[in-house]
Amino acid sequence: MRKQLGPSLTIDFVDEGQGKPVVLLHGFPFSARMWRAQSAALKGKYRVIAPNLRGFGGTSAFDRAPSLEQMAGDVNALLDALGIREPVVLGGLSMGGYVAFAFARSYAARLRGLILADTRAEADSAEARANRDKTIAFAQGHSAGEVIDQMLPRLLSEHTRQHKPEVAAEARDIASAQTPAAMVPALKAMRDRPDSTPSLAKIVAPTLVIVGADDVLTPPSAAHSIAQGIRGAQLVTIPDAGHLSNMEQPESFNQAVKDFLSALE
Ligand code: MLT
Repeated sequence: MRKQLGPSLTIDFVDEGQGKPVVLLHGFPFSARMWRAQSAALKGKYRVIAPNLRGFGGTSAFDRAPSLEQMAGDVNALLDALGIREPVVLGGLSMGGYVAFAFARSYAARLRGLILADTRAEADSAEARANRDKTIAFAQGHSAGEVIDQMLPRLLSEHTRQHKPEVAAEARDIASAQTPAAMVPALKAMRDRPDSTPSLAKIVAPTLVIVGADDVLTPPSAAHSIAQGIRGAQLVTIPDAGHLSNMEQPESFNQAVKDFLSALE
């Protein structure tokens, strides 16, 4: 679906099912399509809303210096436009998790629960910032397909790479449909994001932290730190999954999410 929220913002989003709202924020360099299996599993009982973040899918590009805060503001504006006043469960994977942290800082009253998957609270280290700049330079001179081909080996677990070629193909397909023009500003927003560690203790919404056991980008140690920092947070580690745990092991991921949602009822 598409909604025009202002002169320079059209948001393209998935909106399926009925029930209490669950909002899912995708990782980089993907789109709402990465939540296909979660939407299918949840929409019988919940309203699943998955926006495409700035520049991705059919959503407008940034109209000012790219930031995760602006992406979080867009999610807030979308909820307003949809007339959703009740608090939502907000889930984000990786970059979506960074946006979820920004959302939790600005719109805490809107949260009924938080799901933070394969993400980290810390800002980029100097080394990570230098790597972002290298990826930005690469993306400026290559196609989206070439960018994802460079990233894919580190996004997936060994198990997925060996036994689930269809997951790699789907991830490649979703990312190849994006544009370097979307990727570059998102990389800048991630590079310049603030440290969310000081925000952790302020989060009061019930929180589920999920991580693929073989995630090398945002490893289990990063998930552990988040879960330690948020009072009462639950941590679920998914075997045989890497950074794209929701796509690599959808049954385990969905089960963890369903258990968490049921406990909130
Ligand atoms: C993501 O999956 O959204 C990105 O890999 C996150 C990152 O690069 O920090």
